[in-house]
Amino acid sequence: MAGAATARLDAAGQTLALASSGGPPALVYWGPTLPVGADLAEIATLTARAVPHGMLDEGETYDLFPETGRGFAGRPALQISRADGRFLTQLRLADLACDGAIATAVLEDRAAGARVTQRFEAFASGVIVVSARLDNIGADALCVHRFAPAALPSPWRDGLRFGGRWTGEFALERARLGHGALVSENRTGRTSHHAPPFLIVGEDGFGEASGTVLGVHLGWSGDSETVWERLRDGRAQIQLAPLFGPGEILLAPGASFETPPLYAALSDAGLTGLSDRFHPFVRDALMGGRLKGRPRPVTFNTWEAVYYQQDTAAMIALAEQAAALGVERFVLDDGWFAGRRDDTAGLGDWRADPHKHPHGLAPLAERVRALGMEFGLWVEPESVNRDSDLFRAHPEWILQEAGRDQPVGRGQYVLDLTRPEATQAIFAQLNAIIREAKPAFLKWDFNRDLTHAASDGRPAGVAQTRAVYALIDRVRAAHPQLEIEACASGGARADYAMLTRSERIWTSDCNDPFDRQRQQRAFSLFFPPEVMGAHVGPRVSHTTDRSAALETRAMTALFGHFGVEADLAALCEEERRGLAEAIALHKSLRPRLHGGRLVRLEHPDPGVIAFAVVHEAGQIVSVAQVDTPAFAAPAPLRLRALAPQARYRIALLNPPARPEAAMKNPPDWAKGAPRVGLGAALMREGLPLPVLRPGHVRLFELEPIS
Ligand code: DGJ
Repeated sequence: MAGAATARLDAAGQTLALASSGGPPALVYWGPTLPVGADLAEIATLTARAVPHGMLDEGETYDLFPETGRGFAGRPALQISRADGRFLTQLRLADLACDGAIATAVLEDRAAGARVTQRFEAFASGVIVVSARLDNIGADALCVHRFAPAALPSPWRDGLRFGGRWTGEFALERARLGHGALVSENRTGRTSHHAPPFLIVGEDGFGEASGTVLGVHLGWSGDSETVWERLRDGRAQIQLAPLFGPGEILLAPGASFETPPLYAALSDAGLTGLSDRFHPFVRDALMGGRLKGRPRPVTFNTWEAVYYQQDTAAMIALAEQAAALGVERFVLDDGWFAGRRDDTAGLGDWRADPHKHPHGLAPLAERVRALGMEFGLWVEPESVNRDSDLFRAHPEWILQEAGRDQPVGRGQYVLDLTRPEATQAIFAQLNAIIREAKPAFLKWDFNRDLTHAASDGRPAGVAQTRAVYALIDRVRAAHPQLEIEACASGGARADYAMLTRSERIWTSDCNDPFDRQRQQRAFSLFFPPEVMGAHVGPRVSHTTDRSAALETRAMTALFGHFGVEADLAALCEEERRGLAEAIALHKSLRPRLHGGRLVRLEHPDPGVIAFAVVHEAGQIVSVAQVDTPAFAAPAPLRLRALAPQARYRIALLNPPARPEAAMKNPPDWAKGAPRVGLGAALMREGLPLPVLRPGHVRLFELEPIS
């Protein structure tokens, strides 16, 4: 690439170098900081490949914006068409500029009437955010079929894919890229349980502490595809892109379309190194530091306690019990609004049900506040039940193709929020109930797949997703004191777009700690613990029927945005005491748990899930046995992120009530007596563990001895 146009971004000890020999820029280097003045054009020459027979004479292009028009035979980043049938683009670089932390590549094809502006921004945490805008600079309409912000090179074949299901979100699958492509497609109109837009690829055998890994995420809550594709010359690319309905994105002359942002980070220090980039990014950049100095209130949620069976008196009684336990926020979940007897009725009518709450929500909300708690409220503003006043009055306000029946989910449709009158009606109702009850928190839910995303005779999935964002933003602007939780049938809306406008993500409707430990570990790859909604559920899980001791449930929820979601009246005295103690423990540890560095640990027994939160004065280690142990006695747990020469005082924070039940002659440390260990030895040889049985979760606190 002699004479190439180049740009570099430097952040967090890394340089990302771009070079263009006339077309879209290629990523020619991403790694440890290059020397000042490094010759990027020379570096770019190293990326040239010998061309084998059997291919086009120039070989395959390998840049950040591949196009069919330049002979690229893999998935192009952009696919467009015009009414006269023209569809090819050959973008040429019009400008490559770098201004501090932002590089911008302007690409043009005047004949195709297309201008693409790719923007790369490097953040202090090391996360790179890439987006692209397409301008129709032609004289007629342009249809966009596919548009990815970028195609990232992936020299690796080992990866982690994100799958899942309702109550089984964030299921990780180790994958190996052979020939062809590994593709996840989400066509559910929400971020999804089964194909959320996350992917991690890396060096063979990468782990928590080792290997170069690249993590990517598309900040989008609608349909999307995640593509990891082997090209025919052996190289591979990654593209994450929104999915459009047929003919959905039609740009008039002069109009433009901007992709959602692609978030990418590269680490040479394995998966923990990746989280070391994403977590500070989320805290400081994505959320703008708005959780700083705002301890996450211990939450009580009414859902698994009472479901739809609620009224003012019963909720006040529940709130009183919650307050007595130390709860700081009481959230009235689904069931409070007009006609909501079950999931078949009421959505769309956002006023208090006159039978359950005859004086509105204010008496309950005021009592909750008088008890020293914040009041929170569940809403599902995008949905409408067939059986609702709103639907009866405006059946035309739903997303639908005229004259065509569509399947319902929970008896509900999706409101067409691209219609200003529908949005205004919902906003007005929300506004009124917020003024009446003055909640400090809204749980914003969305409980059905959006399959018929059509408005006014045309596909409208993208416009609907953006309208949802606009509605949330409008509610927030009108009520700046509100915190919002992003929820969609559990964790089907866990993404960075929602997190720019919310403070909490409801991780999963599964409160079973055995499953939750795994889900939370996967969730923590991209999200810090304080945004992860985690509740102590009932003894017998409502979604798995499995029983778990209170300690297992409480110690599993402890590290996230902690909460309780169970019928408090059904607790025995011992459980009530245990729960109050767990809440107190969480509060005492909270500043460290939510401000620290999360270091996931590896253990030879796959049934052990362990991690540490490293803070200024030591660390808190959690060890959970979620399956039957592989061996009679657990292997020691090799710790990380300790000072090798420092000696640590190690305390078991929650010694077992009857240690002899699982161990002969339990050692003193297994009964809670402090012990001392050298950092180097704890990292190399490991921390001896007590015998663990399924459901045991032990917490260790390590403090350096000065
Ligand atoms: C799905 C959510 O994930 C649950 O927590 C609960 O709010 C229900 N919806 C209410 O319908």
